[in-house]
Amino acid sequence: MAGTAAVILAAGQGKRMRSSLPKVLHQVAGRPMIHYVVEAVGEAGADPVVVVLGHGAEQVQAQLPAGVQTVVQPTPLGTADATRWAASVLCERKGLTEVLVCYGDCPLLTADLFRDLARARRAAGAVIALAVASSDDPTGYGRVIVDAAGRVRAVVEEAVASDAERAVRRINAGVYCYDAFWLWEALRLVQPSPTGEYYLTDLVGIAVGQEHVVQAVEASLALTSGVNDRVQLAAAERILRDRVREKLMRSGVTLIDPATTYVDSQVTVGADTVVYPGTLLEGRTTIGSGCRIGPHTRIVDSTIGDDVVVTMSVVEEASVANGVRLGPFSHLRPGARIGEGAELGNYAEVKNATIGAGTRMHHFSYVGDAEIGVGVNVGAGTITCNFDSESGTKSRTVVEDGASLGSDTMLVAPIRVGREAMTGAGSVVTRDVEPGTVVVGVPARPLRPRRSKT
Ligand code: UD1
Ligand code: CA
Repeated sequence: MAGTAAVILAAGQGKRMRSSLPKVLHQVAGRPMIHYVVEAVGEAGADPVVVVLGHGAEQVQAQLPAGVQTVVQPTPLGTADATRWAASVLCERKGLTEVLVCYGDCPLLTADLFRDLARARRAAGAVIALAVASSDDPTGYGRVIVDAAGRVRAVVEEAVASDAERAVRRINAGVYCYDAFWLWEALRLVQPSPTGEYYLTDLVGIAVGQEHVVQAVEASLALTSGVNDRVQLAAAERILRDRVREKLMRSGVTLIDPATTYVDSQVTVGADTVVYPGTLLEGRTTIGSGCRIGPHTRIVDSTIGDDVVVTMSVVEEASVANGVRLGPFSHLRPGARIGEGAELGNYAEVKNATIGAGTRMHHFSYVGDAEIGVGVNVGAGTITCNFDSESGTKSRTVVEDGASLGSDTMLVAPIRVGREAMTGAGSVVTRDVEPGTVVVGVPARPLRPRRSKT
């Protein structure tokens, strides 16, 4: 849509949220709600996109996606005033013929709705196209007043509506497409309402008074619901999560029980992956194809390869290569990197450590600040003692390829266990272990060279 700008109003505090966080930063399906709005207008082709900031401006600015312009409304004098501040940066721009305006608290909006509005406005030669929805509970919305012929005459805000007007169930969804030249002029004509606010919705009455066409476009509440309080936040969350799940399923992912599967909107999952009930996939998580994830698993900001099995486990800021098996009850913490085909079982915890390909760590172990090689056997109860409580520092452990750690081995870091070396059950290893040797005891001492595998 060449020549189309978008203005997103986000200066309000959102008092009804009862929160110290600016309303548009409240998260829906794992992202601040304003991200969805910015994305929808961008996808519809609007350029530039101007966000009007006010309450918590710096905080909101810091979380906006790249590429948006911002302007600050110094005092929250209403939605028309907010739009005027955006107009002050847009009206000089050459070639701009059309302006989309919407509110930052409507995370369900889609690019299609904006395209429909723009198309309808042009087709009708209207100065305003606005989205109108029907609601059984119109509380809080502006009511759309139409004449006998069904033409839109005005939008009346609830605060100033008569009883008869309040009974109207046709509501202003708060999504508009304006003729740019008309908008700049008309914004000057908006007078303060009895509440002292300048209502953007007064533009409808102004256009009608000037005998311009105002075009209504039918929209569903599932697209246009605004978030004013936490109840509406939860409602938006449900709708968005449904959308995310539907998109995944249509792209070839099986969700055994969609209702108990929570997937953030930026997560990607490959085809033929099956997600079992009670699973949460969060943040910037990427999951490959052919995996079995869950039940009862939480994966946050992590990368999972293909053909991985994760059962009843928690994975945070970790990367997991193809063919790995995790769980039940494994915990990968930030910086865990699990090599191809490795197997981590009951109560295996890994933090800031590399686990080599094919390594097995089946039973209750802790590996932190470590590098474990390829094909290592980490016996039950093995622990990297990475923290020195006297100095308060953490040290690294290195276990080279093919080593075998006996049950209950304590690796007192900094420490290195050489290639193909072996530790006996219950050994407390305080000195580096030479490749190919066996150490046992407390503290562990060399016993003999390791017998070669037959
Ligand atoms: C608004 C509409 C209403 C519509 C509803 C749809 C007006 C006057 N009313 O009401 O007709 O049915 O949305 O959801 O437009 N904002 C500013 N600066 C201000 C005031 C508000 O930037 O001075 C921003 C807020 O941050 C918010 C948006 O505008 O994102 C809408 O404000 P809000 O107070 O939520 O308006 P509603 O009462 O929901
Ligand atoms: Ca609102």
